[in-house]
Amino acid sequence: MPAETRILAVTNQKGGVGKTTTSINLGTALAAVGRKVLIIDFDAQGNASTALGIDYEDRQMTSYDVVVHKVPLEEAILETIVPRLDIVAGDESLSGVETELATDPKRSYRLRDAVRDFADRKTAADEDGYDYILIDCPPSLSSLTMNAMAAAHALLVPLQCEFLALEGLTQLLRTIEVVRSGLNPSLDIQGVVLTMYDTRNRLSEEVAQQVRQHMGDKVYKTIIPRNVRLSEAPSHGKPALLYDYRCPGSEAYIRLASEVLQRERALKAA
Ligand SMILES: Nc1ncnc2c1ncn2[C@@H]1O[C@H](COP(=O)(O)OP(=O)(O)OP(=O)(O)O)[C@@H](O)[C@H]1O
Ligand SMILES: [Mg+2]
Repeated sequence: MPAETRILAVTNQKGGVGKTTTSINLGTALAAVGRKVLIIDFDAQGNASTALGIDYEDRQMTSYDVVVHKVPLEEAILETIVPRLDIVAGDESLSGVETELATDPKRSYRLRDAVRDFADRKTAADEDGYDYILIDCPPSLSSLTMNAMAAAHALLVPLQCEFLALEGLTQLLRTIEVVRSGLNPSLDIQGVVLTMYDTRNRLSEEVAQQVRQHMGDKVYKTIIPRNVRLSEAPSHGKPALLYDYRCPGSEAYIRLASEVLQRERALKAA
């Protein structure tokens, strides 16, 4: 009997906070410890696909085709250079999703249904599916983000330790409440990960403290430091964990993966 897939949406409506960096490096770290992982690139910028070395000419079928044209998920899945890590690529066509789905009253369930149907086919064939699906969300509360939140078991929220971080978080928490009261009543928060932490900057420390006060145990112990290796890796088409697995950023994502797994185990035991 294939194991159940856990779906985590990596989301924050604020731009440039580390969603894509977290999706690809957490995905790689989970794959490195034996989990089968699928990343769904749900952003028209296609950054996760590029950072995992997917050429534009290989993006024949993307997450756009899955949600708009109902193309079966398996037809859009591509292997990456990382063993056990696959991706459904994204590209600029995703910017049309909002208008193309506008008249469908069930538009927010497109991704959820695609993933369910895929899982059902895997089960019927007695094949193993993915242990984790990570959805790299765009920086907005658009129809794509609603689809991700409707499909996900839980959210993983990267938060940059900067001025106004808490305001952004409050807005996100309000959105989660709205989603819980309608689209997805069982939506949980896996955790909040503090990113781009700068030890030389007092503000980083203050923001981290405030977020911990506000969110308590939901904040992972692991903090992702500001580390130039993390920002260099995408231009080499590799996750940082492959580019330089001993840099502080890679080490932090390995620790984050073990915390994520620990929380998943605690959930299963409960
Ligand atoms: N810990 C870090 N240290 C240094 N640079 C980082 C770190 N995390 C991310 N970056 C860089 O910051 C920029 C924004 O990160 P990233 O693309 O992951 O954010 P995002 O939330 O996905 O952005 P968007 O909202 O545009 O999708 C990128 O250039 C990335 O390489
Ligand atoms: Mg991104």
